[in-house]
Amino acid sequence: MAGQVPHSSNALSDQQATTTWQPFLELLEFRYLIFDSILTPSEAFSSYILPFTTTMVNFAVSDIPDLKDKVILVTGGNTGLGYEAIKALSAHGPAHIYMASRTESKATAAIADIQKINPSAQISYLPLDLTSFASIKAAAERFNSESHRLDILMLNAGIMAVPISHTKEGFEIQLGTNHLGHFLLTKLLLPTLQATTKLPNADVRMVCLTSDGHRFARTRDPLFSQTKLEQCGAWGRYGYSKLANILFAKELAKRYPDILSLSVHPGIVNTDLYQSTQKNNIFMKIGLMVGGWVRATVEQGALGQLWASVAPREKIVNGAFYTPVGSKSSGSWLAGDGKLAEEFWGWTEKEVESKGY
Ligand SMILES: NC(=O)c1ccc[n+]([C@@H]2O[C@H](COP(=O)([O-])OP(=O)(O)OC[C@H]3O[C@@H](n4cnc5c(N)ncnc54)[C@H](OP(=O)(O)O)[C@@H]3O)[C@@H](O)[C@H]2O)c1
Repeated sequence: MAGQVPHSSNALSDQQATTTWQPFLELLEFRYLIFDSILTPSEAFSSYILPFTTTMVNFAVSDIPDLKDKVILVTGGNTGLGYEAIKALSAHGPAHIYMASRTESKATAAIADIQKINPSAQISYLPLDLTSFASIKAAAERFNSESHRLDILMLNAGIMAVPISHTKEGFEIQLGTNHLGHFLLTKLLLPTLQATTKLPNADVRMVCLTSDGHRFARTRDPLFSQTKLEQCGAWGRYGYSKLANILFAKELAKRYPDILSLSVHPGIVNTDLYQSTQKNNIFMKIGLMVGGWVRATVEQGALGQLWASVAPREKIVNGAFYTPVGSKSSGSWLAGDGKLAEEFWGWTEKEVESKGY
């Protein structure tokens, strides 16, 4: 399946993807989440109703320990959950934080804002566009040339339920950005991550932001076939990219057990992530207006990834998937499939290699 089709004749064009039926088709995809919520109400409760959840571990930003000497890289980070995570971590004295993000103006403004709050925070902007393998390589090379250690790699950047388009290498945009881009970045940073595991008091972690929306993915084939992936709606494609994040963390933990790797669903959080879905889908607009009151604040939402980054290592299961905050979840049956994780790692590796990386 390697090399399957970035631009095959079956791949939908951007124009085909935005028909008048699209909002209805997207609405239909939610039946899967509703179905799963009925079957596992306690998981649905902790995944979606974060402000009122009863399964939270006791964790607040004040519990973040001293991060002296640590080097942290967060993808995205110029807004939303990544920004909030960098703000919180920077208050605990890490040696350096890299804000690896796409829009430079947003990144420099975000860094200036955080440094107003934490004047001693050492934060650099690292240009990174996850839709371009060349940009990912340049970011990794720059990072590796500037830092000999990487203690926390937070794969946070993401897009959600956007219409079909393609990355520079021709991958469907959501799987390409949320998974393939992060896979390549991690691959190129692995030597530094592994070197860091050998340092005294090492505690190296990879925290990958996923979503309970991985449940939109119901069969395994679209993971391996771009043609099948592009037959799914926008939410289905998002679901596959987020299932990919869970499988990636699981397999990274298996292959590199010295690195604590986990995936985190942050809850339903009030960020810019919903902007494109509101633009493209009237039902989403109405749903978010009506359901806005259950969305967590960004401060609440970032707690899950912060907990994953700093909670005592022995409290975390390597390779597991967590819902807010610190609640281990089995996720969908596909998310729990170790053999699928292994196979999908192999597929991703081949796809990336087929592009010369
Ligand atoms: N918010 C929620 O309710 C929710 C729920 C479940 C999971 N999540 C996950 O949480 C993560 C963070 O989401 P968020 O809510 O904080 O979203 P957000 O506010 O929209 O932030 C997304 C970040 O990703 C960056 N990004 C997007 N495309 C990129 C690319 N090609 N290259 C580099 N950076 C890129 C954006 O930078 P630019 O602005 O420069 O593009 C931005 O910094 C995502 O992985 C998302 O799937 C969020």
